[in-house]
Amino acid sequence: MVLLKASFTRSEKEWLWAIYKRAFSADPSETAQEQLCYTRSTFFRSLLDRDYRKFVCVDRTGTIRAFAFLTNNLKKARVAYMRPERFVLMAPNFRGRIFYMTTICVDPEVNGRGYAVEILADVLMFLDRRNAIGAFDYASEKIQSWQPLLDRIVSRLRAKGQITREAWQYRIVGRQEYAIYG
Ligand SMILES: CC(C)(COP(=O)(O)OP(=O)(O)OC[C@H]1O[C@@H](n2cnc3c(N)ncnc32)[C@H](O)[C@@H]1OP(=O)(O)O)[C@@H](O)C(=O)NCCC(=O)NCCS
Repeated sequence: MVLLKASFTRSEKEWLWAIYKRAFSADPSETAQEQLCYTRSTFFRSLLDRDYRKFVCVDRTGTIRAFAFLTNNLKKARVAYMRPERFVLMAPNFRGRIFYMTTICVDPEVNGRGYAVEILADVLMFLDRRNAIGAFDYASEKIQSWQPLLDRIVSRLRAKGQITREAWQYRIVGRQEYAIYG
C-alpha cells in the first residue's frame, strides 16, 4: 500500500535513512556518480519539509519497504545535482507543475517484489490529477531506461480508468558522461 506521508516518528526516520543508505551504496563500483545525494541532515530535514511529497510503500505488517521524494520547488531538487532552469526551458507550459523525483528506493532486502512499481503508479496518478509532469534522473549504468516501465504502468492505469491524460511523453533532458583518457 502506498501512502503520502507528512510526518514520521523518530524510528521511521531512522529506518528510511537506513533504507536509503543501503539502497544507494549497495555496490559502490557500479556507478561513476556518487548516488547518495542526501546527507543525513539534508535527508532528515526533507522529511520535515512540506515542499517534499513523501510517497511510502508499506508491506502487510505496516513496515516501510520503499519510498520516493518529489518536489515542485525545483530549487530544492538541486540536491539531486539538477538545474531547474533547464527543466523549465524544456517544459515551459508546466512551470510550477514539474515534480522532480529526487529519490526512489526499495529496501534491498525486498528488491524485485513490485514495491517500486507500486510507488510509481501512485506518483503517476498524483501527476495526472494535477495536470503535472514528473522529472527524475537515474544512473544509466544500472538502469537502461525507465521509459518502457513507465509506459507499461501508464497503460495499465489508463485501462483501469485511474489516469485520464492521453499522451505521456518521455523526453531526455540531458546526459552526464564520466570518462578516463590516456
Ligand atoms: C531501482 C529500484 C527502485 C527498483 O526496485 P525493485 O525492487 O526492483 O522494483 P520492482 O520490483 O517494483 O521492479 C520495478 C521494475 O523495474 C525493473 N528493474 C528493476 N531494476 C532494474 C534495472 N537495474 N534495470 C532495468 N530495469 C529494472 C524490474 O524488472 C521491474 O520491472 P517488471 O515489473 O517488468 O519486472 C531499486 O533497485 C533501488 O532502490 N535501487 C537503488 C536506488 C536507485 O537506483 N533508484 C533509482 C534512481 S533515483
